[in-house]
Amino acid sequence: MTETTFRKIGVLTSGGDCAGLNAVIRAVTAAASGRGWQVVGLRKGHLGLLETPPEIMPLTAETVRVDLLQAGGTILGTTTKGDPFAYPDGLGGVADRSRDVLAAIQGLGIEALVVIGGDGSMRLFDRLLAPANIPWVGVPKTIDNDVPGTEFAVGFVSAVDVVGGALDRLATTAASHRRIMVLEVMGRDSGFLSLYGGIAGGADVILMPEVPYDLDRMADHVRRITHDRPSPVLVVVAEGVAQPAEERRKKANVGLGIARGLESRTGIDARCTVLGHVQRGGSPVAFDRILGSAFGARAVSVLAGGGTKRMVAWRGGLVTDIPTTDAVAGPKFVSPDSQLVRTARRLGIYLGEGLEAR
Ligand code: F6P
Repeated sequence: MTETTFRKIGVLTSGGDCAGLNAVIRAVTAAASGRGWQVVGLRKGHLGLLETPPEIMPLTAETVRVDLLQAGGTILGTTTKGDPFAYPDGLGGVADRSRDVLAAIQGLGIEALVVIGGDGSMRLFDRLLAPANIPWVGVPKTIDNDVPGTEFAVGFVSAVDVVGGALDRLATTAASHRRIMVLEVMGRDSGFLSLYGGIAGGADVILMPEVPYDLDRMADHVRRITHDRPSPVLVVVAEGVAQPAEERRKKANVGLGIARGLESRTGIDARCTVLGHVQRGGSPVAFDRILGSAFGARAVSVLAGGGTKRMVAWRGGLVTDIPTTDAVAGPKFVSPDSQLVRTARRLGIYLGEGLEAR
């Protein structure tokens, strides 16, 4: 089979950061350099391409040392802002600057691109690169794990580790005071982080945006588990869960609303912790280093095989690649029939309403 070869490829990170992005950048650079291709890092997602001159970082096998594997964040910088199709024109309006992004890529002599991003970034680059003939491959990353077509996205398992670790700490202080501890975690649309983190940290209640809940039934559950064993109660709430009706007029975090609702119903003191961006920071766990390395290397192989508009994916313990059309139809939601939902139910965790019959 003849291989496609490139003189120069670009790599960029787009969307919210997470742990493991640098492992992908390192692997893309190592694999591409090994083929004799030059690698250019594009800074701040697409934003650096709108600067004059474009903001770039040449990447070589020597510059991406081993310590990049363990470094959090992204050395290239990233953005969740500045839609190139409706870019602020500085006069209070917006302008379509998508052609400028393409022109900058071509002006840099970049012949193919690796885009490390979530489902929003996959959609953005699918649209952005469509008019040009620039081969590109996506690498899924997000602590929300909501990119369709892959079981795991880079950064998710590291965030699960942070949630599990936070619950470990909350458990000891909850036990000392016999309190209910509510931990609000990220996840606007999907509850993967809440579900996996909750199981990792031994939660009694796990709330996900996908599953409606009933505060009275949740309080019954808390009373039941504290009846024979006065014990700490750990509740994990995804940020995208609906605020309890009684709290909707107060502008509080949903976790705080749940804590207040449980406290008033059970008489047990409750506290809320909002974990926030702690979940996105820090060093990746081993799995994300492995996933990031495997994804980065695969992305280069896909380009070398003549592939374009493909996203690398993890399925059944194997690294593969799928058409980006399958990946852009996001976000992916937790399925009520999934293995871990069944696990949580069997562990007696309260997951909300409507899952009992499954
Ligand atoms: O999409 C990932 C995510 O971590 C969401 O769970 C969260 O709501 C959001 O990013 C926060 O983004 P920002 O960095 O813009 O506050």
